[in-house]
Amino acid sequence: MTSDLRSIAVEELTSVEADAELATLAREIKEHDERYYQKDAPTVSDAEYDALRQRNAAIEARFPLSVRPDSPTHRVGAAPASGFGKVKHRKPMLSLGNVFDEDELQDFIDGIRRFLKELSDNPDTPLDMVAEPKIDGLSISLRYEHGKLVQAATRGDGTVGEDVTANARHVADIPVALPQGVPEVLEVRGEVYMSKSDFLALNERQEAEGSKVFANPRNAAAGSLRQLDASITAKRPLKFFAYAYGEVSATPWETHGAFIDLLKGWGFSVNPFTRVCDGIDEIMAHYDTIQTHRAELDYDIDGVVYKVNRLDWQERLGFVSRAPRWAIAHKFPAEKAVTIVNAITIQVGRTGVLTPVAELQPITVGGVVVGRATLHNADYIKDLDIRVGDHVRIQRAGDVIPQVLEVVDDGGHEGRPPFVFPTTCPVCDSHAVREEGEAATRCTGGLVCPAQAHERLKHFVSRNAFDIEGLGGKHVVAFYDDGLIRTPGDIFRLTAEMLAGREGWKDKSIQNLLEAIAAKRTIEMPRFVYALGIRQVGQATARLLAKQYGSMTALRMAMEDARVIGSEALEELLSIDGIGASMAKDIVEFFAEPHNNAVLNDLLDNVTVEDFDAPDTAGSPVAGKTVVFTGTLETMSRGEAKAKAEALGAKVSGSVSKKTDIVVAGPGAGSKEKKARELGLTVLSEQQWINMTAS
Ligand code: IVH
Repeated sequence: MTSDLRSIAVEELTSVEADAELATLAREIKEHDERYYQKDAPTVSDAEYDALRQRNAAIEARFPLSVRPDSPTHRVGAAPASGFGKVKHRKPMLSLGNVFDEDELQDFIDGIRRFLKELSDNPDTPLDMVAEPKIDGLSISLRYEHGKLVQAATRGDGTVGEDVTANARHVADIPVALPQGVPEVLEVRGEVYMSKSDFLALNERQEAEGSKVFANPRNAAAGSLRQLDASITAKRPLKFFAYAYGEVSATPWETHGAFIDLLKGWGFSVNPFTRVCDGIDEIMAHYDTIQTHRAELDYDIDGVVYKVNRLDWQERLGFVSRAPRWAIAHKFPAEKAVTIVNAITIQVGRTGVLTPVAELQPITVGGVVVGRATLHNADYIKDLDIRVGDHVRIQRAGDVIPQVLEVVDDGGHEGRPPFVFPTTCPVCDSHAVREEGEAATRCTGGLVCPAQAHERLKHFVSRNAFDIEGLGGKHVVAFYDDGLIRTPGDIFRLTAEMLAGREGWKDKSIQNLLEAIAAKRTIEMPRFVYALGIRQVGQATARLLAKQYGSMTALRMAMEDARVIGSEALEELLSIDGIGASMAKDIVEFFAEPHNNAVLNDLLDNVTVEDFDAPDTAGSPVAGKTVVFTGTLETMSRGEAKAKAEALGAKVSGSVSKKTDIVVAGPGAGSKEKKARELGLTVLSEQQWINMTAS
């Protein structure tokens, strides 16, 4: 990508060369901004990025008449991913879990069979699954009312997406009107994509015009759909495959296969490689077929999706956090390549972990240029004996960070020294220590380490956390370095005076920023908990905590109680499906740390965290109740009983205490039932429970 012009000193450039280079710089910086701010996936270091901006500014200073209307100096960060109205999805748009081989797939299928009791009781009953390619595009939800397309929305964070109705009308394969007889309300979901040939042709055109070139068909599709000016979308060859539904007023189909057939009849494109399979052998055979045809297909796919065919089973299986229990993605093996390690550097993360990174001779892996790959930790480098100068095999799978797999040819690396893992933090110089039994080496600098502070603030404003429009990671870092903000709460104390006169900030952008900050003074609980950056607590866990405790006050009180080993509060935390002992320890410790409490108190003085309302449990007779299942259940598995109770807003616990509201006791219930009776709790039979919870 680097232009040859860049080796010429600015003083030596001719005006023609300056024009050419400013065009390239504008394009490159814009791309880096988007990768950084919107995709959270920068491909260059901060220093390299700054050098590009500096060179751009220097050329502009020497050739003021060449300053372009789209010059990077006119703008800070990427155009916010806003401008589109927001759409709250009536049914969340979910993601999928992954499996990578037949064994993992078998485990997934076994899990389904265990969950649906009639299948575990009758091993011969077939479990039909529909297998279809996983299209590498962007998902979209199309809402039809009385057969007319009334709204199109991107996935966004799964709960709220962007309104792209005007754009979707220009996508071939998206019908704007459906035939008679479709349900009154019908949300059709699927993937917008660009074919490989259209992508290549588009890039040729873009290049000829000196416009942005896209890295791959998926980026091209996303960039083309999310155009504020829909007439640009109209000129881009986008397509659509339908494969799911959201809110519907009726479901005149009983299986996913039947739904796909209806979609076809209604005029949607459905993928021709969609098949109903009656077991793992057929599934694997179809996986092989799809994989064999992968290269010939004119669109990118990155795996095969399997979905339980029967809808009544899908409904019973429900969801675990953000992914259905009834569907899974079987990913194709990761793409690999061999390149050279130019250097090993150390990155300091938000929790102080020192992560070694291989700086690589850039190489294209599966259509993406990879210049860095993680080396995980000190042991990993030692075990693989990776040294600077080695040829290594790297792999890139989906969106995960590329990793170094092995040294391919050490080229006689004995002459080169092994990597010495630092014993001090490369950023703050504090001691770096590795605790007994831990793989990670951590900087002990805590609050004094700017790297940790940077990363914590970046995390706080990231897309799935506070997501403040116009306030990217780069900005918070610059504000931190200049002393404008130290802790997250400071963001809410920024004023126009503090920002006035800063490079790149004008009255209008300052005003926009302050408005965007003000807009986040009220925030949903899962986002808030995630933003705190508690070790091991990702989005899914943050959601689980919000769901379990409902409010920040309740969560903090419970975490305080949970400091006592053996306490009910700790037991409750551990009873949450998805929270294990090590995670629980990190969560409890976070809330026990005085500094964290000071930051939290300060934040809560500035921000209102909305209580988490469990969806659709209004009117449920068991909402908020704590239920214990004991003994044998006849009609459902334990898993299904627990999932159903939770879907109705109940908490399910494994042990009986005076906090328990209901004990459902089947045959063979022993001490738990006895204890419940002693405590005078409500004890129900399975049938009584079913009657009580029947909708
Ligand atoms: S089904 C509840 N089917 O994969 C199930 N998703 O990793 C929802 N995708 O966000 C998704 N092809 O963007 C489904 N045939 C397919 C798909 C597919 C691509 C994407 C979709 C989703 C992501 C999840």
